[in-house]
Amino acid sequence: MTSSNESDLKQLGKIILSTFEAAQKSIRLYPAGHPLIRQSMAELMQALTGSFKSLKEINLNVIRNELYLNDVPLKEETMQHVSFIQLCIKRNISSITLLPEAKMEELEKFLRILSQDAEKISQMGGINKMIISDNISNIKVGRVLPYISTTTGEKIEEKETSELEGLSATAAYKAAVEAFKSVCSQIDNRYISMKTIKATIQSLIENVVHSKSAMGKLLNLKHLDDYTFHHSVNVAILSVLIGSALKMERSELNLLGETAILHDLGKLMVPVEIINKPGKLNDEEWEQIKLHPVNGARLLMEIKEISDMCIIGAFEHHGRYDLKGYPTIREKKELSLFSQIIAIADTYDAVTSDRAYRAAFLPDSAFKIILEASGSSLNPHLAKLFLNLIGCYPVGCLVLLDSGEIALVWEVNHSDILRPKVKILFDEEGDSAKKEIIVDLTELNSATNQPKRNIMKALDPYKYNIDIADHL
Ligand SMILES: [Fe+2]
Ligand SMILES: [Fe+2]
Repeated sequence: MTSSNESDLKQLGKIILSTFEAAQKSIRLYPAGHPLIRQSMAELMQALTGSFKSLKEINLNVIRNELYLNDVPLKEETMQHVSFIQLCIKRNISSITLLPEAKMEELEKFLRILSQDAEKISQMGGINKMIISDNISNIKVGRVLPYISTTTGEKIEEKETSELEGLSATAAYKAAVEAFKSVCSQIDNRYISMKTIKATIQSLIENVVHSKSAMGKLLNLKHLDDYTFHHSVNVAILSVLIGSALKMERSELNLLGETAILHDLGKLMVPVEIINKPGKLNDEEWEQIKLHPVNGARLLMEIKEISDMCIIGAFEHHGRYDLKGYPTIREKKELSLFSQIIAIADTYDAVTSDRAYRAAFLPDSAFKIILEASGSSLNPHLAKLFLNLIGCYPVGCLVLLDSGEIALVWEVNHSDILRPKVKILFDEEGDSAKKEIIVDLTELNSATNQPKRNIMKALDPYKYNIDIADHL
């Protein structure tokens, strides 16, 4: 963004916020139809009409007690509109998006909702529910979805997309999960910020996917926090990894990542009791799950600026390579390439994650599951390519060696996916390694010409109370 754009936005932010807050206050203080309300609403409309000459939409964000207009921080307004910031925080609002189609009546109805007590709003089922029941469709509200780090217990509020740039792999991964959460918080409004989705995928490609070892290590983080959000980000990372190996152009990779992160959007419409049901699903529950590709595609069709590919990916990702999946796909002889890639990433991430009804499979078992599914539910060529990329024991996987040592996979050996480079964590006595020892499992014993060490099996780090992150 150029500095003149930035200063223009700051100027617009000043006018928008002052007229917005003045109108909200007059609605709170005076009865409906009062001349002061009419006057302040007219001033607000004038400010918005002027702003929409240069802006496609107006995005007011409250992030960590600071105001932003379309990504530009409004430092002065932050100091002058403390009560407005507090009003948003109490109502759990992180963003207010105004579309050019918003008419005065709609704005007045919205400001009336906003002026109600925070308690009353939550009793009415939240601000988004009230907006929908008042038929307000051109004003969107994003809610703060706190990200709770289970390791530190620290509560972090949602991040701005601009903060996704130039991050370390771990920070980029966490920021992507948070950004995706914040995008999903607006689903009730039938609104998806494609700008945030695009920024998230750009950041994942730049900071995570191109650092393949960092990526492998990061996938271990998925055991923390909410499954759906981690799953969506993981599927995007793994899909882009496959796309990179297929030498896709950057623009294609971006679109693949966007399609992948949105693949399970329809799951957000499945009751959470079904998603988290510990036991077997009954027929009716299973039918509901099976609707998620269609519901996700329908939802995406309502989003402006969305690529058809995202809709196709959501619709087809459970279609299976042999076309025996759901929903039934009659019109095509084969699924689109993106859908076939996403299906592999989806299967791998799903089986290696803990679910309410079963524990995660260890990577070597997941490897076998993908292998067995190849040719039936998964494209065999893509499955082979994928397994070669991640290896039987991917980076970050904990393994037991025949020497009795416990080690962490450090680097996949693409010439021999059963013999990665590993970092020894515990010796054969179970004592922690005193110094960093990385060994290559392809190394041979000169006397016997046999490998010095072999992997016996993958281990579950949680059973061994080992926090992988401490050793990466
Ligand atoms: Fe799915
Ligand atoms: Fe999925």
